[in-house]
Amino acid sequence: MPRLDLLIAHNLGLSRGVVTRLCRGRRVCTPEGVALTDPGLQIAPAELPRTVVVDEQLVTLRVSFHLMQHKPLGVVTALRDDRHPTAYELLKDAPLHRDLRAVGRLDRETSGLLLWTTEGPLLHRMTHPRYAVPRVYQAALARAWQAPPPGFTLDDGHVPEIAELRALDEAERHPGLEVPDGTERLAAITIVGGKFHEVRRIFAALGSEVLGLCRVAFGPLVLPNDLAAGEYEALDLHAMFSGMHPRPLAVGEADVEGA
Ligand code: URA
Repeated sequence: MPRLDLLIAHNLGLSRGVVTRLCRGRRVCTPEGVALTDPGLQIAPAELPRTVVVDEQLVTLRVSFHLMQHKPLGVVTALRDDRHPTAYELLKDAPLHRDLRAVGRLDRETSGLLLWTTEGPLLHRMTHPRYAVPRVYQAALARAWQAPPPGFTLDDGHVPEIAELRALDEAERHPGLEVPDGTERLAAITIVGGKFHEVRRIFAALGSEVLGLCRVAFGPLVLPNDLAAGEYEALDLHAMFSGMHPRPLAVGEADVEGA
């Protein structure tokens, strides 16, 4: 069961020693004003998130946090980068910011749904190829694409798993998809897995070119139309992804990591 001192240390980025002194000094209270002087107080997981007052500031105590971000164009999916702004910098005010990690990645010039979680095992399941989570993208294209031929394979030998590829009506276009000058076609594509530049490489191999790309869904999660680029909202990824089961390995298939 989580202890009060560990929860406060985890949520505020303080050492346990500092938190012990705060408790003993009656500087940690319930919202009703009752001092919590025992740093070892056990807090049942069902009581979390729980609010306490530390030095007159309300603090919500959690063991984990998940969010969906509408990643804008022009930022990289990284915790830090010497050359470009990062999607992580846009989450500075999120709870447990230090422990948040992106669930896979989007290219700098791709916008859309990017999940973040503090839970490593959950992140692993959501990105591992054996859990086969489908991702849906909307694309603005320079020209028409050809239908994927039988045995369609990219030039590095990767066989994309395309669950759906179809023309996208203008009326279905997500507000997050930029449509640059020169766009001749809109497409919606659902792929299972997320190899490097996979959607761009698929359309290039099919004779087209991606000019704009936005991820609009990841598994059961859909990017809300009213979540503006750069914004995020909290969500419970457990409820959506914890019941997933891996598909069996095919004969000769390696158990590799995904993005
Ligand atoms: N495929 C791409 O080409 N880019 C992305 O960002 C995601 C999928």
